[in-house]
Amino acid sequence: MRIVALVSGRGSNLQAILDAVADGAVPAELAAVVSNVPGAYALERAARSGVPTAVLRHRNFPDRAAYDAALAELIDGYRPDLVVLAGFMRLLTPAFVARYHGRLVNIHPSLLPAFPGLHTHRRALEQGVKLHGATVHFVSEDVDAGPIIIQAAVPVLDDDTPESLAERVLAQEHRIYPQALAWIGQGLVRLEGTRVRFARPLEADCALIWPPSTIAAPVR
Ligand code: GAR
Repeated sequence: MRIVALVSGRGSNLQAILDAVADGAVPAELAAVVSNVPGAYALERAARSGVPTAVLRHRNFPDRAAYDAALAELIDGYRPDLVVLAGFMRLLTPAFVARYHGRLVNIHPSLLPAFPGLHTHRRALEQGVKLHGATVHFVSEDVDAGPIIIQAAVPVLDDDTPESLAERVLAQEHRIYPQALAWIGQGLVRLEGTRVRFARPLEADCALIWPPSTIAAPVR
């Protein structure tokens, strides 16, 4: 499986993927890492792993359609099986999304469909949710939406700040993105309309309940 990753920034999710590819956990090859932001730290991480990099600045294009068309041309030059958004902070045109239907995945720092868009951790705190998390999904036309492959939930603590919550979520992002890519590479994931199905049966024998009942006196 040839992967092209699109990035805009720090690239910690990219690093998790690079590490998982290097140790054989994800049966894939990083064909290229493309950034819309020159100097993004993610590019350095790619180069360090010997992965080809490219920069396509959005500022040099008159509109979204022109940028996305050029981006698609650049991506297709690497002949990817899968395009992986790893902190790529741009809205994508319907034409771009349609071109990579079923071959375009994203990670988002919330339990979608809650909190699409920006500032997810601050918004989760404002809403008082007790569980927050991260989602890896196939990309559909709407922002941070599409068939969900895997989610990780983390507890929200009383003294959390957006930063402390972000850190707890990010640690899980680094687990679930490589996991999702491994499943796709192994052919275990199938798209069925708005849902993702798995080639193997899953057992529903666990739940994360927060706060745990141990904070109160036991019910008799
Ligand atoms: C990650 O938290 C990712 O989930 C988020 O950007 C961050 C990138 O960090 N993506 C989105 O918000 C997409 N809507 P990274 O560059 O260290 O991987």
